[in-house]
Amino acid sequence: MKISQNNIIRQPDYHIDDVFTQRWSPRSFLDKKIPDEDLYSVFEAARWAPSAFNEQPWRFIIARTDEERELFYRFISEFNLTWCKKAPVLALIISHTKRNEEENRSHSFDAGAAWGFLALQATLKGLVTHPMTGFDFTKARELLSIPNDYAIQALVAIGYQGDKAALPENLQNREMPNQRRPLSESIFSGKFGNTILK
Ligand SMILES: Cc1cc2nc3c(=O)[nH]c(=O)nc-3n(C[C@H](O)[C@H](O)[C@H](O)COP(=O)(O)O)c2cc1C
Repeated sequence: MKISQNNIIRQPDYHIDDVFTQRWSPRSFLDKKIPDEDLYSVFEAARWAPSAFNEQPWRFIIARTDEERELFYRFISEFNLTWCKKAPVLALIISHTKRNEEENRSHSFDAGAAWGFLALQATLKGLVTHPMTGFDFTKARELLSIPNDYAIQALVAIGYQGDKAALPENLQNREMPNQRRPLSESIFSGKFGNTILK
């Protein structure tokens, strides 16, 4: 049985490495910088994600100086700004939608895999991540000069977990790992709807 945060139990039904249940998305961040070696290691993990034709369509635009983060704050939603301003690093994940001038059908899938690798490596480094799509995609494209053949996927706050008490009151009772629906609801045998697990 795995005890995660605040005595919340994340109990997998089948054996998996602890890193999968230990990763979660808190909102309280410490006001603490990430050493470059650790930060780059997080993106190094993303680098090794698989992608169709090994195209590696992901790109990451990182904000870590005050000036860079201020620019990012201009497109982040009011709600997300209430907690993500303390995160030392914000990383916008974008993906190249084209391959040899043709549509790359898997750019989102591949960027999602890269995000997953990144998040797990962050956990292994003692860091936390919190992904967001609560921001103005059009404004982000304009402010960060993102070319039209790149799709905006998500923004990720990266840093060290802070104290729950440091959050605004309305977020404090949400600051705990959540659960998942049973695996039986996600796997079908042979065709859609054929459940196999009880
Ligand atoms: C693509 C994506 C967008 C998300 N957008 C937001 C967001 O805008 N604000 C927020 O507070 N959390 C956001 N989340 C966090 C999810 O709510 C969270 O990942 C989910 O509840 C699972 O919890 P866990 O990551 O702690 O396991 C987002 C997550 C993903 C993957």
